[in-house]
Amino acid sequence: MAGRCLVLAVGVVSLFYSVRGQVISRGPCPTVVVQPDFNVDKYTGSWYEIERFPASFESGLKCNNATYWLKQDGTIGVINSGIDIVTGERTSVEGNAWVPDPNVPAKLKVKFRWWVPAGDYWVLRTDYNTYSVVYSCDDFMFGFIKMEFAWILSRDRILNTGTLTDIKRDIQDRGIDISNFLSTDQIGCDAKDNTLKYKPLGEGQSVIYT
Ligand SMILES: *[C@@H]1O[C@H](CO)[C@@H](O)[C@H](O)[C@H]1NC(C)=O
Repeated sequence: MAGRCLVLAVGVVSLFYSVRGQVISRGPCPTVVVQPDFNVDKYTGSWYEIERFPASFESGLKCNNATYWLKQDGTIGVINSGIDIVTGERTSVEGNAWVPDPNVPAKLKVKFRWWVPAGDYWVLRTDYNTYSVVYSCDDFMFGFIKMEFAWILSRDRILNTGTLTDIKRDIQDRGIDISNFLSTDQIGCDAKDNTLKYKPLGEGQSVIYT
């Protein structure tokens, strides 16, 4: 029993340790409605990150973007890119996404590295050619606490303020705390010559562009 408590305590401590900089709050994940009849075909292509919930794997990055494409095997290829704010280095990570339940195509899973469990990628709302709202929430300790991720993406580097305001109101109406959003710096992204120094490798491997 004592052993189990210790394991639990260590688990909880390491959970908090590894998730610093993430959005953690009390209470279970909200029940959210996702995009009906989600069409992944129309969703592929590039998206720019306009706002996001803080996430350790994206900290210190600007000009964040994501590219999705359909693969032969029916899964979705993913490349997330960004520029290190301090060094100006371009960095990207390649992963894979898929739809576990074809009846709910807007609830995707995405995986970048073999040692990190797949995460949720739920498309709450998209019009396919302007914006997309993506959400992920995990319950911990039987719903006593939760960890959330959210992204507002746009087909362009900027998103019209009126659209952004409408989208955020809608997100709030779904029971998600929009005060967690940080805006992503999308300025000066094309300034540097982006010669590819190291070619992109396999799934889950990082590449550095300078
Ligand atoms: C995404 O960001 C990377 C890194 O800054 C950049 O090389 C790439 O051109 C960007 N993609 C688009 C579609 O702007």
